[in-house]
Amino acid sequence: MKNLLGCNQFTKESLNELLNLAEKIKKNPEKYKDALSDKIIAVMFFEPSTRTRMSFESAILKLGGKMIVTENGKSNSSATKGETLEDTINVINGYADALVMRHSLDDSAEIAAKVATIPVINAGSGKKEHPTQALLDMFTINEKRGKIDGLKLVILGDLVYGRTIHSLLELVSLYDNVEVYGLSKEVFELPEKYINMLKDRGITYKKCTSFDELPKDVDVLYHTRIQAERFEGDLGKEEFIINKEVLNKFSKDTIVLHPLPRVDEILAEIDTDERAMYFKQAHNGVPIRMAVLLRAFDRDNI
Ligand code: CP
Repeated sequence: MKNLLGCNQFTKESLNELLNLAEKIKKNPEKYKDALSDKIIAVMFFEPSTRTRMSFESAILKLGGKMIVTENGKSNSSATKGETLEDTINVINGYADALVMRHSLDDSAEIAAKVATIPVINAGSGKKEHPTQALLDMFTINEKRGKIDGLKLVILGDLVYGRTIHSLLELVSLYDNVEVYGLSKEVFELPEKYINMLKDRGITYKKCTSFDELPKDVDVLYHTRIQAERFEGDLGKEEFIINKEVLNKFSKDTIVLHPLPRVDEILAEIDTDERAMYFKQAHNGVPIRMAVLLRAFDRDNI
């Protein structure tokens, strides 16, 4: 049985295997309808979620699994009475065969995995990681381009607190000839540790200050919301907004991704443009999370 705590667990080979499995599942979901019929999955969210929680729940049901859920763990679980995360996990460990958890602590997935004997799947941990989001992002990019090698990726928005960015960089940096461009307000620039990680893996990173500095033929504009819930005070609004005029500066093959929810960083006026793929991206959360769950139980060879 396998945990999914962070994206640094993947090699290019193991990631390709998972993406291939998700592709097979997407093409023929019926084949997997009883794959987890003997399993109970605990779904514990200590932070709000629409996509991650509901696509995990959909994935569990499509695999024939059963679930026990804490939708609002911060206020509805015994955490509110002062129970430690370790104690909570120790208890859940006896109720379910796997745990899907989102928590505000950066190291929550690692803390859970130390205590649990069942597989732990990280559904978002503080500002550090959101591995299943990055997996569905990679799946969407691969679906569009047919490969990841040679990807030209622009990351926008909150590059400090945006955990989806941190996980995505771990995964894209496994591939060859990837170029990454960062466009954000100064206060949300990509932290040095991620720039160094990219450098160590031979990935070019270029910090930009306007849309006009970006190459016109980038493959992906990956925008993110300012994560206002993760810092004190007011650091202002997004300055780099993707609207029709901005999108039309780029190639007809440039796609726009966003983990969602968006606030004001992508205008609804581009939603009908076929390059705006953020809703299709969100839908890809189901086959990817089905693949992750099968992998957790070593049932990825069905
Ligand atoms: N992308 C994402 O994690 O969305 P939710 O917060 O709605 O799960």
